[in-house]
Amino acid sequence: MTLYRARVSDTPVSPFSGGTLRADSDAGLLVEAGTITERGPFAEVAARHPGEDVVDLRDGLLVPGLVDTHVHFPQVRVIGALGMPLLEWLDRCALPEEARLADVGYARGVAADFVSGLVRAGTTTALVFGSHFAPAVEVLFEEVRRVGLRVTTGLVVSDRILREELLTTPDRAYGESRALAERWHERGRTRYAVTPRFSLSASDAMLDACASVVKDVPGAWFTSHVNENLAEVESVRELFGDSDHYVDTYDRHGLVGGRTVLAHNVHATDDELALLAAQGAAVAHCPTSNSALGSGLFPLRRHVERGVRVALGSDVGAGTGFSLFKEGLQAYFMQQLLRDEGLPLTAAHLLHLATRAGAEALGLGDTVGDLSAGRQFDAVLVRPEPGSTLEVGLRHAADDADAVAKLFALGTPGDVAQVWVAGECVTG
Ligand code: GUN
Ligand code: ZN
Repeated sequence: MTLYRARVSDTPVSPFSGGTLRADSDAGLLVEAGTITERGPFAEVAARHPGEDVVDLRDGLLVPGLVDTHVHFPQVRVIGALGMPLLEWLDRCALPEEARLADVGYARGVAADFVSGLVRAGTTTALVFGSHFAPAVEVLFEEVRRVGLRVTTGLVVSDRILREELLTTPDRAYGESRALAERWHERGRTRYAVTPRFSLSASDAMLDACASVVKDVPGAWFTSHVNENLAEVESVRELFGDSDHYVDTYDRHGLVGGRTVLAHNVHATDDELALLAAQGAAVAHCPTSNSALGSGLFPLRRHVERGVRVALGSDVGAGTGFSLFKEGLQAYFMQQLLRDEGLPLTAAHLLHLATRAGAEALGLGDTVGDLSAGRQFDAVLVRPEPGSTLEVGLRHAADDADAVAKLFALGTPGDVAQVWVAGECVTG
């Protein structure tokens, strides 16, 4: 058992439905075998457990482990390309790099870079777009298991539009997906996600094969892209027929449900939002990616008002880094830019989007997402260097919400001092 003494902020109740920031300047968190078994004022918890090992973290700010609901494993080395819209960026930047993962040795290096990028940013749970190559997905799972993160991922499948090396057939996609799921689904902290790249690159036969994997792997997740870019939306409409909206291309294969996370949804129709809400699917909002590719301003207010669940994704490598603090800040900026159509976000909203909302979107709300008793101890200690602007800001914060706002405005992976998953320190 370990008793952590810390300044803690989290958001157990959604600020989108009346919750507020929960902040304790001197909390005691008793952790037994990875689970928080007691939480309260430090003095009270300590009095109940005299002689317990105390780890004093009050030189930093402790928040729940961050949850990234959309991030691409093969793209860690191509972050930062500027000046291209989605389809050109895929052709010129992302897909040539993804083709390199045919070499499993190369993929192993990328997996190490990728997992280390997540950990350094304080991300403890992620829904990850895997690779088009099964051996590369295998090495990703191995690296994730070695480090101890909670990751849901799978083989990315496509049978048209993309460069030849990245294409497969529905039969092969089914077989390789099943084999990977057999080894990794619901083993420890890993789970399997059925992952057609997007319906633009996946025929109806391929989406049918995806539906078969979802059916044959109980508890499997489904993830893909939707309504990201206007040219992409138009091409999908041409391929699938005018009457269908983009979300329907998945839904008519039974792929939109409570274990579905669709990335982007910038250009959603009201009908699509109604469908996503009715089926309980979640949307991964990826603000730096939407900005970098010029995809558009995410209609968060329309999602929230229609009851669609939303969490944050970094969308590395179109997104500009792994930090969900940066994504939260960019989400805030975009809502400001939408003016009357925007949803003004507070610090509590940002922390919720980066933690609890992600946990709920990934069906892990009972396990992680806040630092209540009963949850796993997945946590991030933010401890900026003395004299750094974040450290100055935290020292002079007007109140706890102001401190969290400063964390999102100024926090970087360089400020992440320690990260735990299920009570295990994963930062070494
Ligand atoms: N749509 C299909 N593939 C991708 C990708 O790799 N990144 C983004 N942002 N959108 C996509
Ligand atoms: Zn993406």
